[in-house]
Amino acid sequence: MRVRALWYDRLGLHLIDQRRLPNARVVRTYRKVEGVAEAIRTMVVRGAPSIGVAAAYGMAIASQQRGWTPTRAAKLLASTRPTAHDLFVGIEAVRSAWTAGEDPVESAHWYRERIVAECQAIGEVGAPLFSKRTNVLTHCNAGALATVEWGTALAPIRVAHDHGVDLFVWVDETRPLLQGSRLTAWELAQEHIPHAVIVDNAAGYFMLRGDVDAVIVGADRIARNGDVANKVGTYEKAVVAHENGIPFYVAAPFSTFDPRMPTGAGIPVEERGAEEVRSLGSRRLAPGRSGVRNPAFDVTPSRYVTGFVTPLGVIPPSRVRTIRQMGRTT
Ligand code: MRU
Repeated sequence: MRVRALWYDRLGLHLIDQRRLPNARVVRTYRKVEGVAEAIRTMVVRGAPSIGVAAAYGMAIASQQRGWTPTRAAKLLASTRPTAHDLFVGIEAVRSAWTAGEDPVESAHWYRERIVAECQAIGEVGAPLFSKRTNVLTHCNAGALATVEWGTALAPIRVAHDHGVDLFVWVDETRPLLQGSRLTAWELAQEHIPHAVIVDNAAGYFMLRGDVDAVIVGADRIARNGDVANKVGTYEKAVVAHENGIPFYVAAPFSTFDPRMPTGAGIPVEERGAEEVRSLGSRRLAPGRSGVRNPAFDVTPSRYVTGFVTPLGVIPPSRVRTIRQMGRTT
């Protein structure tokens, strides 16, 4: 049984509460756009493509509430998290349909289907990268939880595993919120894909030893020059992979590519609260008075990227600027 991060029916938008995994599989139901916005902000739902789809449904829900206009709902949802480009694409898909008098719910369904189809295509396109025994390292969670179904970085791994390839996945734990150990490992365990969780600081150790054949990650926003914003720590993995001659792939649907962002320098990086670093659940990890910085993302320069795994093929960074046309589906 494959993972699905969210679904919509006449009762509202249902989200797996990703903060509770792997301890409990709790599903929360949202009937108001304010609730959907809060769920994105507090990371009940997370991962760039998933928050784009959740926001699309948030717009659809707002269209059924009194007092909400397309502009007001879009503004609220857009204020939740600044980095993932998909959020704004999902909002815009439904805002424009609603404004044009089309059915917002239908347009949110269409947007979800488009994302799921693109992620499935990423799986087919990317699987040949792992056609023989491969030890792959990934950072954060770019699986079905992050994309509704399939995943981006995890999609080629899933497809190659289904084809019988002997794959092994190194899973960075991904401090501070542990999306790797809590979510990626959970997804891989569900499908019996061999893996091991490592602390973030161990990735370089395994790369230098020759225990990693390839790195594949997702992305939150990709600039026109191929610079990549993704979970903080991605940059370090890319540099160490480069130093060790290990290919570094970035998998993403078209909604993650931002044709209006010339380079990574302009990508807004979300800075989250200090408590995520100072504590782990109820356990204090640092003195309450210690200063903390908590950037949720970093930006990897395009020179470290071997290839982008897109729904239409694997492309080098120099071809990212062509995505504007490839990605246009309306
Ligand atoms: O803060 P998060 O958990 O939303 O960050 C998610 C990531 O950085 C993912 O790698 C990215 O969104 C790609 S998901 C396909």
